[in-house]
Amino acid sequence: MSEDNHNIASNNGRTNSNSKISFEDVTKRFSVREGKGVSEFTAVDRINLEVHPGEFMAIVGPSGCGKSTLLDLLAGLSKPTSGQILLDGKPITGPGLDRGIVFQQYALFPWRTAEANIEFGLEAKGIRAKERKERARHYLSLVGLSGFENRYPHELSGGMKQRVAIARSLAFDPEMLLMDEPFAALDAQTRESLQDELLRIWEQTGKTIIFITHGIDEAVYLGQRVAVMTARPGRIKRVIDIPLGSRTEEEDIRSGAEFGKLRHEIWSELREEVQRSQAFDRSNGTSVESDKAKVK
Ligand SMILES: Nc1ncnc2c1ncn2[C@@H]1O[C@H](COP(=O)(O)OP(=O)(O)OP(=O)(O)O)[C@@H](O)[C@H]1O
Ligand SMILES: [Mg+2]
Repeated sequence: MSEDNHNIASNNGRTNSNSKISFEDVTKRFSVREGKGVSEFTAVDRINLEVHPGEFMAIVGPSGCGKSTLLDLLAGLSKPTSGQILLDGKPITGPGLDRGIVFQQYALFPWRTAEANIEFGLEAKGIRAKERKERARHYLSLVGLSGFENRYPHELSGGMKQRVAIARSLAFDPEMLLMDEPFAALDAQTRESLQDELLRIWEQTGKTIIFITHGIDEAVYLGQRVAVMTARPGRIKRVIDIPLGSRTEEEDIRSGAEFGKLRHEIWSELREEVQRSQAFDRSNGTSVESDKAKVK
């Protein structure tokens, strides 16, 4: 990324004390095997980003730019190589019950039924059996899986497993939701109804939501702001305000001119990055990377 871009990112992202989440110069490097040796690979580089309390922040970026890496850091599942992430002003030291996570790959316990998977987090919270069951059934019904309570993950389709994972994170009712392409595996109708449901829950509860997606429409529809990441190593290229009104009140906000304009703006930013990422792939045929960049 050019120095200019980095300056933009820094200005956009600087910490202020009212932030819910602050990424401060966060860099994550991995050690990777290359031939007989080991080399360092920078996944995300000097990320500065602030998320306000109760904000719905969407994050888009080319495949492999470090979006899931950022979410892992935020979840406390890994630590930055340098820099820090503050949550309510305090550095993140590990996972916590305040953060509900929907991983890119559904992470269900294979030995538990759909219902028991949802109940898992509720048990950790000390909720009584009757209420656990009621909540699990309510959220299963919300994601269109009534009747599948007693199925084990291997008896469900990919999209169904993802819906159980979504239901589990919603039922748990955490203060913050960290969602990594949660709707990517779903059919269009289910995706749209879950988008609206998520917006409704967000409006009602004031949760802070970080939502990673490949879908530009989805990012504009859901986000109050959309952070666009650069091709790897991932940095924050721009944070774009989405000044659209309540999605749940408007008729079809997606067909409006303002929506189209914002969509185009993000698409242009992303296209530049995808092209850069593809050029990088071509010039580094032997690189550790084989991911293909994509923009939907
Ligand atoms: N544990 C790891 N060890 C080595 N490299 C890793 C590790 N985890 C991720 N990476 C690399 O870091 C980069 C960022 O990966 P990440 O999964 O964060 O990308 P992403 O933006 O989520 O991509 P996608 O959109 O395809 O999900 C990739 O190049 C990936 O190969
Ligand atoms: Mg990812």
